[in-house]
Parts: sequence; C-alpha cells; structure tokens
Amino acid sequence: MSRVLVTGGAGFIGSHVVDRLLEAEDEVWVVDNFNDYYDPDVKRRNVAHHAGDAKFHLQELDILDETGMDRVFGEAKPELVIHLAARVGVRPSLDQALLYEQVNVRGSAVVLKTAKQHGCRELILASSSSVYGCQKKTPFSEDDPVDHPVSPYAATKRAMELIAYTYHHLWKLDIVCLRFFNVYGERGRPDNIPAMFTQLAVAGKPIPRFGDGTTKRDYTYIDDIVAGVLACRGKQLGFEIINLGNHTPVSLNDFIEAIGEITGKKLNVEERSPHPADVPITFADVSKARRLLGWEPTTSLQEGLEKYYQWYQQMIKRA
Ligand SMILES: NC(=O)c1ccc[n+]([C@@H]2O[C@H](COP(=O)([O-])OP(=O)(O)OC[C@H]3O[C@@H](n4cnc5c(N)ncnc54)[C@H](O)[C@@H]3O)[C@@H](O)[C@H]2O)c1
Repeated sequence: MSRVLVTGGAGFIGSHVVDRLLEAEDEVWVVDNFNDYYDPDVKRRNVAHHAGDAKFHLQELDILDETGMDRVFGEAKPELVIHLAARVGVRPSLDQALLYEQVNVRGSAVVLKTAKQHGCRELILASSSSVYGCQKKTPFSEDDPVDHPVSPYAATKRAMELIAYTYHHLWKLDIVCLRFFNVYGERGRPDNIPAMFTQLAVAGKPIPRFGDGTTKRDYTYIDDIVAGVLACRGKQLGFEIINLGNHTPVSLNDFIEAIGEITGKKLNVEERSPHPADVPITFADVSKARRLLGWEPTTSLQEGLEKYYQWYQQMIKRA
C-alpha cells in the first residue's frame, strides 16, 4: 500500500488506473481540471463510485497551477506519480497548438518539478505512439528515431519525454514514459474512433472513412494498458521509454467491418479525404515491455470490442 498521485485521474485511462490502485488498498490523490474537451460530466461519472472512500482524494485543479500543485503534493506526499493529464487528440492539436504545448509540455514540467521538490522518486508518464510519426519501419521500437512528429500533439509528447530524461539525469528520479497505442474500452473517450464509430453505428448515422481505409492502427484494450502501467511500479528502472500496444495492427476497413459485426448494424460508410496529421500505421514492438515489465497484451480486438459494446449498451440503457 502506498500513496499515489494520479494526474488526469478522472479521464478514460486515469479512472481505470485509479480503480485498480484503490482495489490494491493504495491511497490515491486525483488531480484533474475536468476541462470541456469532452463532457466534464462524463469524467465526474468515471470517478463518482469512489465518493465516500476515505482513501480517495479528488482535487479539481489544473496541473499548470504551480501553487495548487505544490499544496496537493504537500498534502499527498506521494511515493509514486502517474501523470496522465494532457490535452489529447491529434487533429484538434492543429488548431490549438499553443494550448497543447502549455498543458503537455509546461504542465508536465510542473509535475516533474513539483515531484522532485517534494521528494517523490518515482514517476510513470503517459506518452504516445504518435511520436513515431510516419515511420515506415514496423513494428515501432523504442530505439527508432522519433525526430519527425507530424502533429503538435505528437511533438508535445516527445518534448515531455526529453524533459523527463533531464530529471532522471540530474536528480536520479526513476521515470518510465509509456507510449500507449490507440487505447479503447469502457469509458473510452467519445472522440476516439472505437467509441465514435460504435455510437454512430448504433444511431444509424454514416461512418466517416478517411482515405481508402488501408491505414492501420494497433488498438489496445484498456485492461492491458492499465496492467502495463501498474507493472512499472517499484521496478526502479532508472529512465526508460516503453511501448504498450497490442502488436496487431488492423486496417480501418477491417475495423469498420468489426464494428458492423459486433453491433449487428449495416453500416453506411462515408468517404472523406485523408487528413495530413494522420499516420499510415501504428504498430508496437512490445519486446521491451515483455523483457522489463513481464507484460504482454492479452485481449484480442474482437474480445475487447465485445466487452466495450456490452458496456456501451448498459450505459445507454441507464441514460
Ligand atoms: N487514449 C489513447 O488512445 C491514448 C493514446 C496515447 C496516449 N494517451 C495519453 O494517455 C493519457 C490519458 O489519455 P485519455 O485517453 O485517458 O484522455 P482523457 O482526456 O480521457 O484523460 C485526460 C484527463 O486529463 C485531464 N486534464 C487535461 N488537462 C489537464 C490539466 N491542465 N490539468 C489537470 N487535468 C487535466 C482531463 O480533464 C482528463 O480527465 C494522456 O496523457 C494521453 O495523451 C492516450
């Protein structure tokens, strides 16, 4: 049992991480500003079931608020920080590049600085497969060059990794940057393709297909991602960057077909032009995660989408 501070802990991935930490009897502080990138009520519902748990502390706070962060770290005295708060999404980052830079780069620097000042030695940070850009060599491994990000979002995630390395080098903090690959599952962000396509399919609305449908994504189920995050705990790895992906890329056409099968709907696909910030493929080499964390993805896309769809149906029944 330890004291853990989770930034972005009311979000999609964060709320699942928080569930697992509380199950393990950890004391958890969530820092989240409940911004309106998507409906903040969805985020409130993600953590509502922990109200009344004495081990759960919710702080509505922006990670850019240095004074507030100092206060929360002073109260929480965390032994571990799991930093998931970020401005997310590739395409919206094109119109709001400065906001992404503020939150993802400066905000991450605030988290690192405050952790160091308060003697917290261990951090796990959320990076992204987007740092690999349009790389042709697959699968993507952590040693591949990542100097050509193709969106402001990707560039901010790479910048965060570099700043994190400096904190390890100078102050010997143990830091793992996890490059998540296309995460989906229960509580999934409404702007993510699996959630968006399921919703459109159920509503009988057209499914937008950008390009010819041959782009591929390495969709990774939420439980596998959370298992990978928690597998980093206490490993004392120094500084590492580790991919967490499913190692099984699926084309957009096959993905749309899978959504049709799972929802039992006949889909109406609408052709759209490819987007310049979209990458042709994401494909994780997970051998480093296997070696350092003993981690493997265990959920097939079919199985994960079925679980997601079951959850989605229950959710719309309750609404
Ligand atoms: N979901 C994916 O497929 C995916 C893939 C790669 C990387 N990631 C990374 O994983 C992390 C979690 O992503 P998610 O999909 O759960 O997104 P999410 O938007 O559901 O969660 C992020 C949370 O951070 C909070 N937040 C944002 N800015 C904040 C700020 N300034 N101060 C405090 N809180 C703030 C949001 O309110 C939200 O609750 C992010 O860092 C994201 O970049 C996600």
